[in-house]
Amino acid sequence: MMLKLDGVSKVYRVGAFGGRELKAVSDVSFEVGEGEVVSLIGESGSGKSTLGRMILRLASISGGTITLDGRDITTIKDRKEYYRQVQGVFQDPFSCYNPVFRADRVFAMIKEQYFPRVGADEWRKRVEGALESVRLDPGDVLGKYPHQLSGGQLQRMLIARAVLLDIRLLVADEIISMLDASTRIDVLNLLADLRARGLGILFVTHDLSLGNYVSDRTVVLRSGKVVEMGGTDLVFGGPAHPYTRSLLASVPRLHAKWADAPDDDAPCAYHQAPPESRTRPGLAEVEDGHWVACAGCAAPGTEEKKIKENA
Ligand SMILES: Nc1ncnc2c1ncn2[C@@H]1O[C@H](COP(=O)(O)OP(=O)(O)OP(=O)(O)O)[C@@H](O)[C@H]1O
Ligand SMILES: [Mg+2]
Repeated sequence: MMLKLDGVSKVYRVGAFGGRELKAVSDVSFEVGEGEVVSLIGESGSGKSTLGRMILRLASISGGTITLDGRDITTIKDRKEYYRQVQGVFQDPFSCYNPVFRADRVFAMIKEQYFPRVGADEWRKRVEGALESVRLDPGDVLGKYPHQLSGGQLQRMLIARAVLLDIRLLVADEIISMLDASTRIDVLNLLADLRARGLGILFVTHDLSLGNYVSDRTVVLRSGKVVEMGGTDLVFGGPAHPYTRSLLASVPRLHAKWADAPDDDAPCAYHQAPPESRTRPGLAEVEDGHWVACAGCAAPGTEEKKIKENA
């Protein structure tokens, strides 16, 4: 397994004097393998970007560990070495470019940092190859300023930059939200191409249908906790947590089966499952490769535990 999150938590100090703690991410564990797309789904504020930022070492990790090929990422002292393998692309592509400079400066910068000895001709070839791999016409985009390019083009140039570095894991945080429908499909298909080349992708989104379209596995996050995760077919085909069911119910056209109001009286899948299926902290494996958290039910013993947890 390439990237592994093990009991990862994030606590922010908030309030005027930093006197209050906000647990943005609690005890999250999942993996992203080579050539695998994992979507991280949840509502606004559920902790998706915080997780992405911890993976990208842009935010410190309050608890648990993140490993890349078994190595704790915080112990990789050479950040350059890490960023050659792991890169992020974010929602707003404009914010990643300096409007004063031509957009292809993002390529010049990685040449300086990572490939100082590559000759100019060879480098140009590589850049053109990377642009073509994200379906951009080099002649059309090179030499232009950010305002002369569309959001989708800028977004794809950032992905091309990741391709040039030949990274292994891409954290894509809401990269589709700003794009129009036809560009969306382009970028999604591009991600599929990259996956076929062995790239692992963590696809962060609040849009379930996008997650369903691109991912092999799905992790559903609510208030910083994993409520359900597993093969995308399993999670979408048979959601076991009422929260996932209600999310799916709000996307009626794509999930006709779940268009009816979710059955909130359904028994809690976690507590229905035998104790030996509780193979991960707080999660029960309800079928092979499909985990679910307690629905917040009143199963015997849980009330007491909740009181303790809240204390
Ligand atoms: N730097 C920060 N300092 C304090 N609190 C933060 C910080 N960054 C995020 N938070 C809080 O952590 C929680 C999770 O935020 P996060 O940005 O991870 O959510 P998200 O799932 O990405 O949401 P969205 O879909 O809106 O992007 C929120 O309550 C947010 O206010
Ligand atoms: Mg976010």
